[in-house]
Amino acid sequence: MAFRGTPWVDWANYWATGDAASKPAESEDKDGHLSPTGRGIDGALLDLEYQRIELIKFNLLDNSGTYKEYVEGRDGVRGPALKTWDALRLPKGHPDYDAVGGDGPQLCRGDLIRFRTPTGVCNDIKNPLMGSANQPFARNVQFEATFPDLGKNDLARNRHGDRLGLLTPDPQVISRKLFTRAQSQPDSCRDGHGLPGNSPDANCDYKKAPFFNVLAAFWIQFMTHDWFSHLVEGRNRSEMMTVGCTAQRAANVEKPLSAEEASRLGCRPGDRIDRSYFAQEGEPPTFSAMGKEHLARAYKTTNNTVTAWWDASQLYGYDDASRARVKRDPADRAKLLLVSPDRPTMIGGGMGYLPVFEPLDPINLQWSGQEATAFPDNWSIGMSFFHNVFAREHSLFVEAFWRQAAATPDADSGLRNPSRPDTAILYRDVTEDELFEVGRLVVSAQIAKIHTTEWTTQLLYDEPLYQGMNANWHGLFRGRRLVEAALEKITVNNFGKSTDAKKATQWYTVFASGPGIFGLGSRVYGDDAIFAKYDPNRTDIWSLSNPDHVNGGVNHFGSPFNFPEEFVSVYRLHALVPDLLEFREWDNDPNVVRGKIPVVDTIRGKATQAMRERGLASWALSMGRQRLGLLTLQNHPAFLQNLALPRLQSATGKIDVVALDLVRDRERGVPRFNEFRRQYGLKQLTSFDEFVDRRLPHGSPERLEQERLAGLLREVYGQHRCDASKIITSAQVNPDGTPITDCLGHPDGSIVDNIEDVDTVVGWLSEFTRPHGFAISETQFQVFILNASRRLFSDRFFTSSFRPEFYTHLGVQWVTDNGPDGTVIENGMPNGHREAVSPLKRVLLRTIPELAPELAQVVNAFDPWARDRGEYYSLEWKSRHGAESDEAFAQPR
Ligand code: HEM
Repeated sequence: MAFRGTPWVDWANYWATGDAASKPAESEDKDGHLSPTGRGIDGALLDLEYQRIELIKFNLLDNSGTYKEYVEGRDGVRGPALKTWDALRLPKGHPDYDAVGGDGPQLCRGDLIRFRTPTGVCNDIKNPLMGSANQPFARNVQFEATFPDLGKNDLARNRHGDRLGLLTPDPQVISRKLFTRAQSQPDSCRDGHGLPGNSPDANCDYKKAPFFNVLAAFWIQFMTHDWFSHLVEGRNRSEMMTVGCTAQRAANVEKPLSAEEASRLGCRPGDRIDRSYFAQEGEPPTFSAMGKEHLARAYKTTNNTVTAWWDASQLYGYDDASRARVKRDPADRAKLLLVSPDRPTMIGGGMGYLPVFEPLDPINLQWSGQEATAFPDNWSIGMSFFHNVFAREHSLFVEAFWRQAAATPDADSGLRNPSRPDTAILYRDVTEDELFEVGRLVVSAQIAKIHTTEWTTQLLYDEPLYQGMNANWHGLFRGRRLVEAALEKITVNNFGKSTDAKKATQWYTVFASGPGIFGLGSRVYGDDAIFAKYDPNRTDIWSLSNPDHVNGGVNHFGSPFNFPEEFVSVYRLHALVPDLLEFREWDNDPNVVRGKIPVVDTIRGKATQAMRERGLASWALSMGRQRLGLLTLQNHPAFLQNLALPRLQSATGKIDVVALDLVRDRERGVPRFNEFRRQYGLKQLTSFDEFVDRRLPHGSPERLEQERLAGLLREVYGQHRCDASKIITSAQVNPDGTPITDCLGHPDGSIVDNIEDVDTVVGWLSEFTRPHGFAISETQFQVFILNASRRLFSDRFFTSSFRPEFYTHLGVQWVTDNGPDGTVIENGMPNGHREAVSPLKRVLLRTIPELAPELAQVVNAFDPWARDRGEYYSLEWKSRHGAESDEAFAQPR
C-alpha cells in the first residue's frame, strides 16, 4: 500500500510476483488460487488483462484513412466492431487487383491465400492491403498529441512553451551527457575498439543485466528487421541535415557550445544525416463527431517499408528487390541456399552457411561482403547468427518433409490448393516451390513462438509474465480441453462475430486468454463444441472453401493492423549491445574468454567474415554466456556513438546513432515522455526525482546514483516557472477531476522541472523503478502489451489458418512440438513448472549439434548459459555447477 502514491503500476507488489522472497512462508501457500501466492499471481494477471482492455479501447489510431469510421461507425455498427475497410482494398493498377475482384467486393482467393505472399497482401483475405509493405505506420496516441515540436494546438504550446525543436534540446549533448558509458580504464576500451589482436585484457565497462544474454539483444534486432523499417533500401531522403552538438543548457539557460566544450563532451558538430521520408505531410483532413473536431490522421505520416506481419520477411523478402536477394538452392528449390565454408573441416560446416552477396545482386555498396538475405541493413554478428540458424532450420524442416514423403509417398500431406480444396495433395505431389513456402510458414511460426514464450518470458522474468505470455500462445487453460474448447467457441463465434463494440473487443480479449490467441478459430465445430474437441476429426467442419473459416480467427479491434510509430520508438534498444564480445571456443574450455572482439569489427561484411572464421558454435556459446547491457541511462555503446557511415559522405563520415534515435523520434512526432505515458493510461511524473526507486534505502549507493542521474536530467532539460492557467493535456485529468496544467500539481508560479520535454527514449531509460525481472521499463511494456498481442490477433496464419491445409501435417506438428519427434520435456521443474524444452533451445540443438553439452544445462536460451537460475525467479549472478572457473562470474556488475 505504501507504494500506491508513486507513479508506477502496483501489481508488482503482490505476493509471488518477485523472487522467492516475495512468496509467503511455505505453510501459508497451500490453497491454490485462494492462497496468497494464488491471489498474487491471479491479481497481477487480472491487472494485466485490464491494461490490455483499456489499451484496445483507447489507443488504436489508424493512419491509413479508416479513423473517421472508427469514431463514427458505419451502417449502425460502431467503429471498434468493424471488420473491413475500403482503405484496405487493393488499388487499381495493383498486379492482383483483378484477382481479388477489381472494383467489386474484394476477396482474396486461390494462389493469393495459400501462403504468406511476397509483399504481405491477402493475409486478411477481406482486407487485402493490410500489413503489406509500404502501408502507413499507425499511432497509439491521439493524432493531436503527435508532433509536439510543431506547436499545432494550445495543449502542445502550453505543454512545451517554445522549448522544443528538432535539435532542441541538443540530441548529441543529450547523448554524451545521458547515454555515454563511464569507463574505469578508457585505455583498455578505446571507444569500443578494445586492444590490438582482440586481446582478452581489453575492457569496456557497461551495466549488465544478470538474467539476459547478448543473444537476446541481437534477437530483438533480428525481430525488428522483420516487423518494421522506415528506410528504403537502407537509405532515407537524399537531403542532408545537421544533428546538433551546438548548444547546451547551463544554469537553466540554453547557450552555444564552444569547440572546446564539444570536444570535451566528445560530440561532433560536423555530423550530417539524411532526412526521414514522409508519406503525407500536408494538413490532415478533419471531421466532427460527438460535438468534437477530430484529425483524420497524424500531422505527418510515414510508411512501414517492410511487411508488418510476423512473416520472417527479413529472411524471405517483402518486395521484388528483397526477394531477389534471397538465394534458393538450385539442387532443391525448397531450400535456401547454404554453402560449405571455405574451410571444409570447420566444425558445424556440414550444414553450411548462407552465401555471400554477388556483384549483380540488388544491394547497396555498404552491404557487399555480407551474407545474402532479404533485409541486409545494419548487419551485425547477431544478424549473421540468426539468419544462418534459421536458414539451417528451414533446410532441416525440408529434409524431414522429404524423408516423410519418401516413406509414405501416397499419404495425405495435409496441404491443399484453395483452387481445388477437396483434392488431397499427397506427399509425392508436393512441389519444391510449395515446400519452400510451407518452410517459410513453419519458420515464421517458430520465430513467433520463441519470441512469445521464450524471449519475452526472460525479458520480463517473473511468474505473472510467464503465465501471461504462455496464455497468449497456449491459453490459460492449457491441457484442460473442455474449458479450452468452450472458450474458443465463445470467443470466435460469439464475440468475434459480434457487432457490439464491447463484445467484439473487450470481451474478445478476455476470453481469448482461455484458449490462447495462437490457433484461434483453426477448428470449427458443427455440433456441441464442448465434446467435439475429444474427437476433432469427426466433427471439425473447418473448410478451405469457406472464407469465414479461413479468416474467422482474426480480430483487428476495429483498427487495421500495423505497428504504431510509438512502437518503433520503444524498440530503440541500442543500449543492449556491449562494446566488446567475450569470445569463447565451444571445443576448448568454454569457461575461458579467449579474446575480446569489438562489436564494431563484427558489423556489415565483417560480421560475415567473423562468422565464417570462427563458426556458429563458438559465437553461440560466446553470445549465450555474455550478459547484455541494461536499458538505463549512461549505458550506450561507445561504438554506436561514433559509427562510421561512409554512405553519408559527410565531413566526419560518422554518426552518433543514439543521438539519431532522438532525432528520428522527433522527426516522426513521437510525443515526449510524460504525455506519452498519459496517452497510454499510465501515471505522469511531476518531477525528475520521481524516477528514483523509493524502495531503495536512503543513502544506499544505488539510490545515490539514481539521485545523481535525476539531477543530471534536470541540468539537461532544465526547469521553468509554471502557469496553472495553462492546460496541457486532454488524455487524463487529475484525480479530483480538474484539468492537468503546466504546474503538474505544484503551486502556481513555482519552479517546476521540464519533465514534459523529456524525449521518450530518455524517459524510459530513466525508469529505475520496475517490476521484478523487467529488462525493460513499465512504459515500454505498456506499448508491448497492446502491440505484441495484436501481432497475433490480426494474423490469419497464427489463428484460423494455422492448419495442415497451409502448413502440412508435419508443419503443424513441428510448430506445436518445437520440432520433429514429439514434445520433449525439460528436466526438473524450472520456476515450479513442468514444461517442454524451449523452442529456441530445440532449434539450436538441431542446427548447431556441437552445443549439446552446453545446452544440456540451459532452460531458456536467452538466460546467460552458465548462470545458476537458483530458486524462483532469482536474478543473482552466480555460476552453475561446472562453470565455477568462468571469469565472467568474477565481475559482479
Ligand atoms: C551492431 C548493432 C547495430 C547497429 C550497427 C545499428 C545501427 C542502426 C542505425 C545506423 C540506425 C539508424 C537508421 C536511420 O534512422 O537512419 C538504427 C536504427 C534502429 N535500430 Fe539499430 N543498430 C544495431 C543494433 C540494434 C539493436 C540490438 C536493436 C534492438 C532492437 C536496434 C534497433 C533499432 C531500431 C528500432 C531502429 C529504428 C529503425 C527505424 O527507424 O525503422 N538496433 N540502427
